[in-house]
Amino acid sequence: MSPPSISQRKADHLAVAASGEADFRHLTTLLEEVHLIHQALPEQAVDEIELDAEVAGCRLRAPVVVSGMTGGTAEAGAINRDLARAAETAGVAFGVGSQRAMAQHPELEETFQVRDAAPHVVLIGNIGVVQARELGRTRVAELAKQIDADAMAVHLNPAMEMIQDGGDRDFRGALDTVAELVDTLRVPVIVKETGCGLSPQAASALRRIGVETVDVSGAGGTSWVAVEARRAAPDSAARRLGEELWDWGIPTAVSTAVCVAEGLQVIATGGLRSGLDVARALALGARAGGLAAPVLRAHRDGGYDGALAFLEELVASIRTVTLLSGCAASRSLSQAPRHLGPTLRAWLSDLGVR
Ligand code: FNR
Repeated sequence: MSPPSISQRKADHLAVAASGEADFRHLTTLLEEVHLIHQALPEQAVDEIELDAEVAGCRLRAPVVVSGMTGGTAEAGAINRDLARAAETAGVAFGVGSQRAMAQHPELEETFQVRDAAPHVVLIGNIGVVQARELGRTRVAELAKQIDADAMAVHLNPAMEMIQDGGDRDFRGALDTVAELVDTLRVPVIVKETGCGLSPQAASALRRIGVETVDVSGAGGTSWVAVEARRAAPDSAARRLGEELWDWGIPTAVSTAVCVAEGLQVIATGGLRSGLDVARALALGARAGGLAAPVLRAHRDGGYDGALAFLEELVASIRTVTLLSGCAASRSLSQAPRHLGPTLRAWLSDLGVR
């Protein structure tokens, strides 16, 4: 594949995902069914509330991850540097998008380099499992090292690939690939979905091969099936299949509870849009909440300042919800009194999660 076609795909992804025209239509995250119980006697000073978190062995000042999105074009490189800098200032983690582009075209490496802009940010590299299988562990280790990543996300995206023109169709060997990376990479591996969530079966298979941290990236926010459906030619089979499977996936709240029950450290991504959403995910046992499209939109509308203001408001909101839930630390939200709505409870019961 030539650089222009990768670049065109990256540009399409940014435009379509940022537009909101590829959000899930009916299926929600079900985080709205997680009700933290208001405490009228919090007995806390808001400035004393602790927000620090540990994710994949890395310490964050606040339990938030800016999920991996982009790289591979000049525009993407500028976005990466701005978002990394905003994340560092806000004390949250930042992920680059798939490093496949730089693996195939070394001249694109600089569009993934953010250390000059954000020397201290907790930085997460990114590669698809199919590409990792093809590249091999040594090359994946190099990709992590080249950008000085603190952890490496290996993404799983079979639904999106099935819709994408020219996408991967052979998903064999994924578990073996992840197992090899877990055993050999010098940084922790985070296995990440991309908007369809991780099931109990996937969670337990990952746990068995030694994965400790996952990003559930569940349903309810950006639908990557929808992104590819929007990119497909009108009246094509890909467009029709994408329309049919637009809402395919496991709601983020469900996948979070499933993976926590499996004993995994969880980043809850997929449709989180506010500090309240992050707090609800923490209540289900997540270590941090991840956001992709909303941060991209804040950057589109206000550049670096817009992205930073968005993240700082998000963190302030997590602080407020932690206080109003009667907790001294956001990491204690998993123990806070709560009520779960009927649809979420039914999903969890059907999937065997108590
Ligand atoms: C993504 N996402 C993504 N994930 C990944 O692992 N590698 C990637 O290269 C990309 N690329 C990408 C581009 C853009 C423009 C967006 C918005 C997203 C998926 C992302 O990390 C996240 O899992 C999903 O988008 C769900 O989160 P939101 O968007 O609902 O907050």
